[in-house]
Amino acid sequence: MERVVGLINKLQQICTQLGDTAGNSILVDKLSSIVVVGGQSSGKSSVLEAVVGRDFLPRGTGIVTRRPLVLNLVHVDDEKAAEYGEFMHKQGQKFFDFDKIRQEIEDETERLLRNQPGSKAVSPVPIYLTVYSPLVPNLTLVDMPGLTKVPIDGQPLSIVQDLEEMCRQYIKGDNAIILAVTPANADLATSDALRIAREVDPTGDRTIGVLTKVDIMDKGTDCREILLGKSLRLKHGWVAVVNRGQADINKKMTMNEARGKENEFFKGVDSYRDLDNTGTDYLSKKLSTHLINEITRKLPEIQSYIDKTVHDYQSQLKALGHDVTGNRGKMLHLILTICQKVEKAFNKIMDG
Ligand code: GDP
Ligand code: NA
Ligand code: MG
Repeated sequence: MERVVGLINKLQQICTQLGDTAGNSILVDKLSSIVVVGGQSSGKSSVLEAVVGRDFLPRGTGIVTRRPLVLNLVHVDDEKAAEYGEFMHKQGQKFFDFDKIRQEIEDETERLLRNQPGSKAVSPVPIYLTVYSPLVPNLTLVDMPGLTKVPIDGQPLSIVQDLEEMCRQYIKGDNAIILAVTPANADLATSDALRIAREVDPTGDRTIGVLTKVDIMDKGTDCREILLGKSLRLKHGWVAVVNRGQADINKKMTMNEARGKENEFFKGVDSYRDLDNTGTDYLSKKLSTHLINEITRKLPEIQSYIDKTVHDYQSQLKALGHDVTGNRGKMLHLILTICQKVEKAFNKIMDG
């Protein structure tokens, strides 16, 4: 198992390097990402933060996430290394303060949407953030604006469809693992997350159901039946979590305190005590296992993809008569060299 994790780490390091070097990774598309979808204020940003174990996403009531955030986590192999984030739109600037990262996400959201009428406007143009840390696994996570049912003040009439379409774009490829977030205090039958997940992943091979807000369900009700798969069966099952409520956020409850509170909660309720599919730790473990299986399954495909890419660039360069003096030739030659390096590194991993 450890070997597989190491392998994936190396593979993704290569991808990241390639992404940085060529401005566009040929491999990232082939690797899995995790996308959170669900209704507005269902707790998507909170779930994502909890999985990452860091506070840095704007959260709150109403529409807070107004552009997709593509979060690339990069594991740093030095336990003393300082964690930092870097934005694609501000390359070279390292953010060591996670509050500043949140501020920058808000500012960058605003920057693009400033000229749109209404403060509730959303955009499908993503913000790219890479976080380097010894404490994270290599993962790509996507935080999405929430789905809504009716336009509100200042939103264009097309908003409901626009949001759904944006969401579909991110989860339709078969490499995305869908975290379908549904608040436990709402009816499953009305869950936007499940509806859209079912539409793009009818077999449920890539969908994990996440129940949030279990702590604020109506007195006398619980979600045990759902967690046992008796209400609505999902192939990969359900996970219940408890994240910080608005009051906790206002009081600046830390991530650690929040995890403590979550543990206490699930231990303290008879209907959940004997179940193992509760809590953020369980969700994280489930995600890593899922991811490893997915990537292992795709390795041969990735290998032939790399080989084909190298071959394609070689042909293009050949068609130019191997002339590397012009811009196009220079560029092709550069990309080919990078691809060949990737091919070599990949083959080394596969052999080793
Ligand atoms: P998003 O709009 O789906 O990204 O949802 P957010 O993560 O921004 O959360 C929306 C609101 O719900 C915030 O005020 C959170 O504090 C609150 N919230 C999220 N998860 C939970 C939970 O498990 N329990 C409670 N009590 N509140 C939560
Ligand atoms: Na929200
Ligand atoms: Mg959000």
